[in-house]
Amino acid sequence: MTSPVLLTPRTLLPLFPNASARKLLLLVLFIFVFWVVFMASKDHTEFLFHFNNPITLRRWHIFKGFFPPEGLQNASTSSAEAELMVLEILEKLNQQIPPRPFTDLSTTTSAKESTVTIFNPGDTYSVGDQLDVLLVAKDYSGRRKEYGGDFLRARIFSPALKAGASGKVTDFNNGTYLVSFTLFWEGPVSLSILLMHPSEGVSALWRARNQGYDRIIFTGQFLNGTAPVFTKCGLTLNTNAEQCQYLDARDHEAFYCLKLPHVPCEALTHMKTNNNNVSYLSLQEQFLFRRVNMAVEMVKSLSVTVLPGNNRNETKKKKCQIGMKTPFPSGYTFKGRWISTFCEQKEFSNINDINNCLSRKLIYLMGDSTLRQWVYYLSNVVKTLTFFDHHGTGMFQTHVLLDVKRHILVQWKKHGHPFVTKKLFSVKDDNYIPREIDQVAGDSRTAIVITFGQHFRPFPINIFIRRAINIRKAIERLFLRSPETKVIIKTENIREVNENAEIFSDFHGNIQNLILRNIFRDLNVGIIDAWDMTIAYHSEDVHPSTSVVESQVAMFLNYIC
Ligand SMILES: *[C@@H]1O[C@H](CO)[C@@H](O)[C@H](O)[C@H]1NC(C)=O
Ligand SMILES: *[C@@H]1O[C@H](CO)[C@@H](O)[C@H](O)[C@H]1NC(C)=O
Ligand SMILES: *[C@@H]1O[C@H](CO)[C@@H](O)[C@H](O)[C@H]1NC(C)=O
Ligand SMILES: *[C@@H]1O[C@H](CO)[C@@H](O)[C@H](O)[C@H]1NC(C)=O
Ligand SMILES: *[C@@H]1O[C@H](CO)[C@@H](O)[C@H](O)[C@H]1NC(C)=O
Repeated sequence: MTSPVLLTPRTLLPLFPNASARKLLLLVLFIFVFWVVFMASKDHTEFLFHFNNPITLRRWHIFKGFFPPEGLQNASTSSAEAELMVLEILEKLNQQIPPRPFTDLSTTTSAKESTVTIFNPGDTYSVGDQLDVLLVAKDYSGRRKEYGGDFLRARIFSPALKAGASGKVTDFNNGTYLVSFTLFWEGPVSLSILLMHPSEGVSALWRARNQGYDRIIFTGQFLNGTAPVFTKCGLTLNTNAEQCQYLDARDHEAFYCLKLPHVPCEALTHMKTNNNNVSYLSLQEQFLFRRVNMAVEMVKSLSVTVLPGNNRNETKKKKCQIGMKTPFPSGYTFKGRWISTFCEQKEFSNINDINNCLSRKLIYLMGDSTLRQWVYYLSNVVKTLTFFDHHGTGMFQTHVLLDVKRHILVQWKKHGHPFVTKKLFSVKDDNYIPREIDQVAGDSRTAIVITFGQHFRPFPINIFIRRAINIRKAIERLFLRSPETKVIIKTENIREVNENAEIFSDFHGNIQNLILRNIFRDLNVGIIDAWDMTIAYHSEDVHPSTSVVESQVAMFLNYIC
């Protein structure tokens, strides 16, 4: 069965170099696809039943089968627009990450052979100065690389001061890179530049990622009367067998399960996943993703001593607010605390301050387990916030914290498909984030925090781009009805280096963060840059350390109070 998500008109694009002709072609294609879906629908009566049953409709927000003719045109126009955006972003990324085939590993970038030197070294360095480092990439034979694209991670740090900050990498696309650091604190400062993946590895990962949906196997649990029965599910299913289709027409989101005989599609209750043992990398490419060849230090030994600042007039920073542009780095750690570089932070050092901020607030955390960490952190720190039993079981049930006296509600709910975990989780009230946002009334005392990304890494990037666009649209709708609602985006954090780079690499996370930044750039939202924070804290764990979570929550309180 053709699904809108599966449609890849990219193959047709070269025939239509003219942009408007291309747009027209796409529009026609999408209308055609919707027509096919419409005509191919088998269970008309069941659809009508759904449509007339608002409870079912509200719960799933998903149309089984097809869409009504009058809604058809509108749905297809708006989703065709979104699909065009997806393709546009994809095209740009493809240009930025060109194929880098290699016949011999010795022609790939070597951390050992590459050189790192201070650019325009000064006699002394003071707090506030910039330190620029020139990196010349070389291959294993010591030859200069002639193209860029290496995935690097730069950091300065002073262990004794529990201080750290990210560095900014500028790729000149000719094998040289400028890595810039701002010297935020005084004392001895060490430098680190990690070669996460050589450019050849980067382009292999990029190609592989967009090649297949089957790195993760979804297993759905249905109720057959009262007995649980299992079947294969996924973002796509390559089969001619009968399927249950869980489609969101407006947002062009789709999820499928193999239909079990005599078990209704509505009886889906739970889901779990397993990593599939497939790879789209060649054997030669796989060599690049052995642990010893990832995250290799390029700096042999390089440190500077930073003197106190030369009493320059520090421009007083503005109080942290939603809508501020966040630079990179957006802050640094000092004595274990996060210090913002672009806005003045209030200290929420005692419980009264935190409670005063949270009082009469509705806080909706939407996303993955890195936001659930906030719930655990808050319940630890603010003892008057207590767990309310929202029913369901396990790690992925909706978590609710309440303080009835102060009228505080903090709720965490996981984002919809794809959600990757070996533990069985309920999908009975599952929903995509845009649909959840649509359900929030919103006002000046309502805050929404959104994080998604880790669970998207194993899948082709179009899934992530489409979700980001849909979330943006939902936020725009929210701002139309309740412009004073506080919306905060927490970016994806770095994680441990894993040999299964195809599924877990931070390269995927980095691309997703770039996309997110691009899609949300002119929205009136607050950004909490978890990527930047976890590099600064050197927290290489999918679930960042408590210090990081504490810093994120502090930033959040600064944005909403
Ligand atoms: C479709 O969109 C048009 C114009 O945007 C609007 O007038 C019409 O009511 C919409 N139809 C439906 C079914 O929403
Ligand atoms: C690489 O590009 C930078 C910036 O354009 C330039 O300054 C530098 O000379 C170039 N290096 C080489 C080896 O071409
Ligand atoms: C569901 O239950 C019915 C009746 O007990 C049985 O005939 C059928 O085989 C079951 N279906 C599956 C998929 O187990
Ligand atoms: C994965 O597949 C490869 C070859 O296809 C095989 O050599 C390897 O043992 C498999 N690994 C696991 C854990 O099954
Ligand atoms: C700092 O700024 C104030 C007011 O703008 C000015 O009067 C003072 O001279 C400045 N101090 C220095 C050291 O530049």
